[in-house]
Amino acid sequence: MLVSSETTQPLQFSNKTHNKKLYIPSLGLALVLLISLASPASSCTEQEKTSLLQFLIELSWDGGLAASWRNDTDCCKWEGITCRKDRTVANVVLVSKGLAGYISESLGNLTRLQHLNLSHNSLSGPLPPALVFSNSINILDVSFNRLNGILDKLPSSTSARSLQVLNISSNLFAGHLPSTTWKAMEKLVTLNASNNSFTGKMPTHFCSSSPSFAVVELCYNRFTGSIPPEFGSCSKLRILSAGHNHLSGTFPDELFNATSLEYLSFPHNILHGVLDGSRIIKLRNLITLDLGGNSFSGTIPDSIGQLKRLEKLQLNNNIMSGELPSGLGSCTKLITLDFGGNSFSGTIPDSIGQLKRLEQLHLNNNIMSGELPSGLGSCTKLITIDLKSNYFNGELMKVNFSTLSNLRILDLHINNFTGTIPESIYSCSNLIALQLSVNHFRGELSSRIGNLKYLSFFSIADNNITNITNTLHILKQCRNLNTLLIGHNFRGELMPEDDKIDGFQNLQVLGIGGCQLFGEIPLWLSKLENLVMLILSDNNLSGSIPAWIKALSNLFYLDISSNSITGEIPTSLMDMPMMKSEKTKAHLDMKVSELPADATLSLQYRIPIDLYKALDLSNNMLTGKIPMEIGQLKAVLSLNLSFNDLTWQIPESICDLTDLEVLDLSSNHLTGAIPAALNGLHSLSAFNVSNNDLEGPIPSGGQFDTFQNSIFDGNTKLCGTILHRNCSSAKVPQATILTKEEVFAIAFSAFFGVGVLYDQIFLSRFFLRTRR
Ligand SMILES: *[C@@H]1O[C@H](CO)[C@@H](O)[C@H](O)[C@H]1NC(C)=O
Ligand SMILES: *[C@@H]1O[C@H](CO)[C@@H](O)[C@H](O)[C@H]1NC(C)=O
Ligand SMILES: *[C@@H]1O[C@H](CO)[C@@H](O)[C@H](O)[C@H]1NC(C)=O
Ligand SMILES: *[C@@H]1O[C@H](CO)[C@@H](O)[C@H](O)[C@H]1NC(C)=O
Ligand SMILES: *[C@@H]1O[C@H](CO)[C@@H](O)[C@H](O)[C@H]1NC(C)=O
Ligand SMILES: *[C@@H]1O[C@H](CO)[C@@H](O)[C@H](O)[C@H]1NC(C)=O
Ligand SMILES: *[C@@H]1O[C@H](CO)[C@@H](O)[C@H](O)[C@H]1NC(C)=O
Ligand SMILES: *[C@@H]1O[C@H](CO)[C@@H](O)[C@H](O)[C@H]1NC(C)=O
Ligand SMILES: *[C@@H]1O[C@H](CO)[C@@H](O)[C@H](O)[C@H]1NC(C)=O
Ligand SMILES: *[C@@H]1O[C@H](CO)[C@@H](O)[C@H](O)[C@H]1NC(C)=O
Ligand SMILES: *[C@@H]1O[C@H](CO)[C@@H](O)[C@H](O)[C@H]1NC(C)=O
Ligand SMILES: *[C@@H]1O[C@H](CO)[C@@H](O)[C@H](O)[C@H]1NC(C)=O
Repeated sequence: MLVSSETTQPLQFSNKTHNKKLYIPSLGLALVLLISLASPASSCTEQEKTSLLQFLIELSWDGGLAASWRNDTDCCKWEGITCRKDRTVANVVLVSKGLAGYISESLGNLTRLQHLNLSHNSLSGPLPPALVFSNSINILDVSFNRLNGILDKLPSSTSARSLQVLNISSNLFAGHLPSTTWKAMEKLVTLNASNNSFTGKMPTHFCSSSPSFAVVELCYNRFTGSIPPEFGSCSKLRILSAGHNHLSGTFPDELFNATSLEYLSFPHNILHGVLDGSRIIKLRNLITLDLGGNSFSGTIPDSIGQLKRLEKLQLNNNIMSGELPSGLGSCTKLITLDFGGNSFSGTIPDSIGQLKRLEQLHLNNNIMSGELPSGLGSCTKLITIDLKSNYFNGELMKVNFSTLSNLRILDLHINNFTGTIPESIYSCSNLIALQLSVNHFRGELSSRIGNLKYLSFFSIADNNITNITNTLHILKQCRNLNTLLIGHNFRGELMPEDDKIDGFQNLQVLGIGGCQLFGEIPLWLSKLENLVMLILSDNNLSGSIPAWIKALSNLFYLDISSNSITGEIPTSLMDMPMMKSEKTKAHLDMKVSELPADATLSLQYRIPIDLYKALDLSNNMLTGKIPMEIGQLKAVLSLNLSFNDLTWQIPESICDLTDLEVLDLSSNHLTGAIPAALNGLHSLSAFNVSNNDLEGPIPSGGQFDTFQNSIFDGNTKLCGTILHRNCSSAKVPQATILTKEEVFAIAFSAFFGVGVLYDQIFLSRFFLRTRR
């Protein structure tokens, strides 16, 4: 008899010899060969080999398994197969092998197979009942495949099922999971059916048939109805998890009899009711309670403090209210506390300082107020503090942030904090995100912020910080800064133009909007090579758009709207590499997951995750024509040139911007016709040419049939059915496609003084077309 561990023994003996490397394998191999030749019983049975080969044959893709699974070798030595001492197959573990096709029923013929793990493949088709109802298999894991079909058709009469662990998660199973399926599984301990498309009620009866039943994971399905009271009779149940379903109703009383529960997780359902203090404390073994994203109401009972094992308490996004109970401070094992998105009020109890293990504190989007308690400084393990969108106030003086050396994210966005930013924050040397925007912080930034070497996201937008020159000189020391949002501060200061502003080598997003800054678009910006997003809107910047702008080769979002910029739109702006190419995928290096959720979205405070390529030059004093080269900005989705003094025609090349969703040319002095081919821009959802001097017919068809007529207002010479103004007049330029001859005819007529402007349009249209 030979076990795999025994075959390695010759290797150990041979360790004592000198020329190991050559000697070991040959001796090992020789011994193995010798033994396997000498003893025929040392190979797996022909029947088991046949069953395995049958499995192999029925696969449509074997991921190279056939190289090892050869008929002329012992199947106990095949890849993924483990045999017992008596050469019967015990385990088949073929994880992440790229297998595709159907799972053969022949595996059910391996009469002593105990552990079958086929997870992380591309297997499809049904799960053979012979495996689920095998008399030998006790661990069956087929998770992360594409198995489908329904399980409620499985027979339920046969006896002596061995199955203990069934993982069918992350497949494409659908239909119901009726109780009858589980009745015969007397030994079932764990069922993991998450991430499928199961419907109907949650399955029950586990515990009446299987007294050891301990784990049920049903999240990411489409279960409906209420939580079955039968779970209350599961005396061994440790994990009950059914988040991301459509479960409704309240917690049944019986559930609180399942006192072994450690993990109770129902996030993202439509459950309601209150957290009854006298009931919840019966679940004294709870380690995780996750009820986020439901409709639970009422307050948090003070008795929650009796759940001494609690590590994770998530009640976020419900409609709970009231003050946080001081009893919470007794849950001293808490690591995660998430109460965000409710209507909790009052202050943070000072007892929070007892939560010495707390790593995550989320109280965002509530109506809490008052000052932060000094106790917070005792939670020295804190990694994330998210208090955004509340009414917290005061000067943050009570908290000694110096003690929070593990802090990585501090989000105080949208509160009523006042005073200067406390110096102690700059001792949190592990901070990666500091979000202080929309408060009433004032004064100059402290140079100590340069200590924050890992700081990647910093926003103090919309406060009352002063001295922008000082601010930028200080922040350039934060070498890892990726996103810097300082807009709506520094009111009326001068945009620093000194070339000593450098560094910022990792900066990708810079927002300095809404400051009423004077000066010009400064040259130092041209050194920020990694910039992808630049917001300078709502200042008093004058001068022209610099030609160096195209040096910002990664820029795909430029907003300089609402300034006093003069001059023409430079053609270099039409050479912005990222805006020209759809292929160069816009990307932010920032690890979004590590940042405050609201470190995302638009403009001053947040960044769009679906990075939107946009050019906004609106509300300035730009003159001249829209460059014909505008057609090069093929990747741009939003183009806003409104509220300027642009003249001439809308270049026909604008119709080349086929991805355009927003095109606003309103309130300029544009003349001529609206290019008819604009109706080919199928993504265009916002279009505005009002208050110009356009004339001729409004294009019809495509998106133009969906627009309201107000977007053409203030152009008395436009016509079309949408305006109830007839286009029959001969003066009106035809927006139809002309032949070469017609174009030339009209072009020549320009020399004779006929409608110069119209001709310009036709000429440019002609030349554009011939250039292609
Ligand atoms: C394996 O080999 C045996 C005899 O050597 C033969 O009878 C059997 O058909 C073969 N099986 C397969 C699947 O090729
Ligand atoms: C299982 O084994 C039996 C008896 O050896 C055989 O008749 C049957 O065809 C096998 N089933 C499969 C699916 O290989
Ligand atoms: C199956 O194998 C995977 C990968 O090794 C492992 O993560 C998983 O726990 C195994 N399944 C069971 C039920 O042991
Ligand atoms: C499948 O679920 C079981 C039990 O829940 C678990 O032990 C196993 O690790 C899971 N398999 C994978 C691949 O995660
Ligand atoms: C269920 O399986 C998934 C993999 O699909 C795994 O991530 C999860 O931890 C398992 N759940 C339990 C409770 O074991
Ligand atoms: C659900 O299954 C799909 C397909 O296997 C997988 O890509 C996805 O990561 C799974 N989701 C979860 C939450 O496990
Ligand atoms: C809970 O269990 C106790 C006995 O352990 C029993 O008296 C009570 O009726 C059960 N409650 C519910 C709601 O099932
Ligand atoms: C804040 O904490 C630091 C580090 O624990 C300590 O050195 C300092 O004295 C504390 N400051 C105050 C004002 O308590
Ligand atoms: C927040 O601050 C503003 C301005 O100081 C004040 O008007 C407002 O009442 C404050 N709100 C609360 C809830 O404290
Ligand atoms: C900002 O602070 C300055 C003094 O530092 C003060 O004069 C000014 O009124 C403040 N502005 C606002 C909007 O609070
Ligand atoms: C701004 O800060 C700089 C450098 O710290 C300093 O030299 C300058 O005087 C400050 N400006 C104002 C207006 O306070
Ligand atoms: C274009 O900019 C103007 C002025 O900044 C603004 O009012 C308008 O809403 C913008 N247009 C679109 C479609 O966003």
